[in-house]
Amino acid sequence: MCGIFAYLNYRVPRSRRDILQTLVKGLQRLEYRGYDSAGVAVDGPGKDNGTSIALFKKKGKVKALDEEIYKNESVDLDAQLDTHFGIAHTRWATHGEPSAVNSHPQRSDKNNEFVVIHNGIITNYKELKKYLGSKGYEFESETDTEVIPKLIKYLYDNRESDSVSFSTLVERVIKQLEASDEGAFALVFKSIHFPGEAVATRRGSPLLIGVRSQYELSTEQIPVQYNRGDSTIEVEEEKNFRNRQGSINALHSVHDGMAVEFYFASDASAIIEHTNKVIYLEDDDVAVVNEGKLYVHRVKSAAGDDPVRVIQTLQMELQQIMKGNFKAFMQKEIFEQPESVFNTMRGRICFDTNEVTLGGLKDHLKEIKRCRRLIIIGCGTSFHAGVATRQILEELTELPVMVELASDFLDRITPVFRDDVCFFISQSGETADTLMALRYCKQRGALTVGITNTVGSSICRETDCGVHINAGPEVGVASTKAYTSQFVSLIMFGLMMSEDRLSLQQRRLEIINGLKKLPELIKEVLSLDDKIKSLADELDHQKSLLVMGRGYNYATCLEGALKIKEITYMHSEGIMAGELKHGPLALIDKHMPVIMIIMKDACYQKCQNALQQVTARQGRPIIICCQNDPEISKMAYKTIELPHTVDCLQGILSVIPLQLISFHLAVLRGYDVDCPRNLAKSVTVE
Ligand code: F6R
Repeated sequence: MCGIFAYLNYRVPRSRRDILQTLVKGLQRLEYRGYDSAGVAVDGPGKDNGTSIALFKKKGKVKALDEEIYKNESVDLDAQLDTHFGIAHTRWATHGEPSAVNSHPQRSDKNNEFVVIHNGIITNYKELKKYLGSKGYEFESETDTEVIPKLIKYLYDNRESDSVSFSTLVERVIKQLEASDEGAFALVFKSIHFPGEAVATRRGSPLLIGVRSQYELSTEQIPVQYNRGDSTIEVEEEKNFRNRQGSINALHSVHDGMAVEFYFASDASAIIEHTNKVIYLEDDDVAVVNEGKLYVHRVKSAAGDDPVRVIQTLQMELQQIMKGNFKAFMQKEIFEQPESVFNTMRGRICFDTNEVTLGGLKDHLKEIKRCRRLIIIGCGTSFHAGVATRQILEELTELPVMVELASDFLDRITPVFRDDVCFFISQSGETADTLMALRYCKQRGALTVGITNTVGSSICRETDCGVHINAGPEVGVASTKAYTSQFVSLIMFGLMMSEDRLSLQQRRLEIINGLKKLPELIKEVLSLDDKIKSLADELDHQKSLLVMGRGYNYATCLEGALKIKEITYMHSEGIMAGELKHGPLALIDKHMPVIMIIMKDACYQKCQNALQQVTARQGRPIIICCQNDPEISKMAYKTIELPHTVDCLQGILSVIPLQLISFHLAVLRGYDVDCPRNLAKSVTVE
């Protein structure tokens, strides 16, 4: 998905080369989101700061853009720019093919008077384009974004006086973009008419601002004012997950002349190497940096608006998002699972007293226990985490549990009631479909619970309460460690709900003991990597791969097949083994590759029956099973033998061989494991 990065240095002397390097580095940090072209805009070409703008845009990788910049000899790379604002973008094509002209920054005219970078979609762009076209503004790209720089130039050309500010123009622009309810955007503007000034705004797409000063920063020292109407409102430091109960520090001092740098980005991974002090903008905020000071205005205010913007301290370390010795982030993330799963449980399960406390939910537990049903909503892998835990949640909560794909849930206009509790599962916390479903459920009065991996994300902020899965940054587009941590988080929720149910104590203990051993068992599974790689070698020439199982392991089949198709581009299907006779059996012959998951649980015999059905049609499946299973070891099939754990946790172990198979297949095929074609890490459009 598109990525935004922008950098403003105020009274911090930087050469144009340094600035371009900072911008390109920022884009590289966003590469994992998926993109197909990139671009930057800086002041150019000489020392005459801000009177013209140089644009560099290129189809393909950020590396190609970087090379393009240095080929250009017209800009003076060594010029020192004391105060400067540069913007950069990676584009994932939605309107118009990947090309330099369609990539961002988009511009107002041939003189680049206004340039804009944009994440999201403007749904009323056709009407705006027609209007601006009728006023003589010429369009050069096929993008929806281009209407924005053209519109701001139109408003600038027709301004009532010379004193109209940059932020007022932006506010006027976004009022026009609001013409469509479905439009989503995060925007950053730069202009030759307002040199050294930055304006950024968002609605529906995330945007955050990092602040770095040469002085030690405290809340008081950061030159921030938050204005609504005439009043200056406080800035609050983060104290907890919800950011609601922190102590309020009034911020009066604005340090004139203080050297300061600002970083704008669509996600924190592009900022963290520069500063850990960040402010997440809310929908309809317009943030302006002028003369080194940051102001946040509201375009429109509504009852219930949070009157505070929080300066948060990010806990993330750069090395947490670096690849280390692994070939790909995905591989690193698969191998991190013993720790990521442990971190999900850390401080939440007391293995001495067998108590489970999810701090973000405990104040709402009574309400949750009184509810009529649980609805788990997500997309892709996050949806599968719901499928994987549905059965045990039904058992531990004794409530009906629905698991819904966010897009389908919305399409169906599913009935939701005040006594429903709706869980929104999302690694990024920004997935547009899941966010829309959240707003839909909120409107209907349901209690909303977020299960996310990204602190400060939209889902995290907009839900009533929630759980951070604490898996650490997930960079590979294919989700791996987030899945196992979402899985564990949902199990912990079930354990918390059943704490006072006498009849469930035995089962709870069994699961808690299983969770305690889980990190070690995951390590055991990871030690099978060489064997799994040799099985992947044998599958490399295949066109299709079926993954079959049932009960607790049906979700593993869906998730394994999703991993295989998304990074190896091989057709793969997760099949519920109970459905074999109802259709899929027709696919089976001696040529069709099949992986079967047969674990020692209540479905064991039924899975054996499915195996018979497959082998009777000359299928030769690879079997993922429990270690030393006498029934299976006497057969002559290839196996991946896993340590045995409690039935409802087995899916955490059985998914790992499938994650590894997909990784090895993608490497064998020479594909970009972390950035599969056509896919993006954070899907912020519907
Ligand atoms: C698959 C994958 C996607 C995401 C889906 C939801 O490997 O990563 O299917 O799971 O796009 O994303 P989040 O969890 O960020 O809401």
